[in-house]
Amino acid sequence: MSTHLRHLITLQNMDASTIQHLLNRAESLREACAHGTRRIELLRGRTVLNLFFEPSTRTRTSFELAARRLGADVVNFDIAGSSTSKGETLLDTLHTLEAMHLDALIVRHRESGTPEFLVHHAASAVCVVNAGDGNHAHPTQGLLDALTIRQHRPNFNLLTVTICGDVLHSRVARSDVHALQALGARAIRLCGPRALLPDPSEFPGCTLHEDFDDAVEGSDVIIMLRLQKERMIATLLPDEAAYFERYGLTQERLRRSASGALVLHPGPINRGIEIASEVADGTQSRILEQVANGVFVRMAVLAELLAR
Ligand code: NCD
Repeated sequence: MSTHLRHLITLQNMDASTIQHLLNRAESLREACAHGTRRIELLRGRTVLNLFFEPSTRTRTSFELAARRLGADVVNFDIAGSSTSKGETLLDTLHTLEAMHLDALIVRHRESGTPEFLVHHAASAVCVVNAGDGNHAHPTQGLLDALTIRQHRPNFNLLTVTICGDVLHSRVARSDVHALQALGARAIRLCGPRALLPDPSEFPGCTLHEDFDDAVEGSDVIIMLRLQKERMIATLLPDEAAYFERYGLTQERLRRSASGALVLHPGPINRGIEIASEVADGTQSRILEQVANGVFVRMAVLAELLAR
């Protein structure tokens, strides 16, 4: 691996060899822990804290399982029951938690830049892992998506990948693009209604599409995104039925893609809004494989950051 990771904040500017190394490590840890049935004591005595200021099902649970399966102690900080609700600032919360000794802090926050802010203000040697900040980055999701794709299509430079939905507000889209570009994906198409497409200057090398039928044509991988209503300032959308009509991934649309195209979605999925149930549950869906890979990728990241 070319650079030693101290924190994991973004995949932007991470090189292909570092990404491949993390994916390889995820696969070897999957074998070493017998697909999650055996614990490894690599991080015994280390303490990992989950600090989630936004809701999470997959990411929080998989970080917890990842840390436990490596033998670490895990604390799930309960924001609702904490002094954050009594007005304590983020920095006072950070320094209070650090005073109890932490090795890693897994943070999710609605504000882009929060994980980096914590890195700059940490008083200890705690490692900070970004579990999703605003629309900025979700690096472990980018890695687990890359791993899921690599398992089926190891040759990234043959791949056309379409990312469809609320790209504007999606930290997943950003981290996926960074990983896919580093790994040499041939083409990346970003698709959605105009109001939910980003400024093209933010995504050099990607093409923007408003017509999903065109975008899906010949794609090898289709990554669907949820409408992130919690990040929309004004209502940017027609009603959900009209959205599904134009941007929902149906079996019929999927037939336009390359044969055997992979269907991914970071979850939570909204059936009948961005994806039809028959596709989400169909033979081309890799959604639950993504979830499974999430644990091993997070084990790899924690091992990389924390193992002495
Ligand atoms: C995503 C997130 O929180 O960014 N979910 C996830 O981590 N698996 C995507 C979303 O919320 O739509």
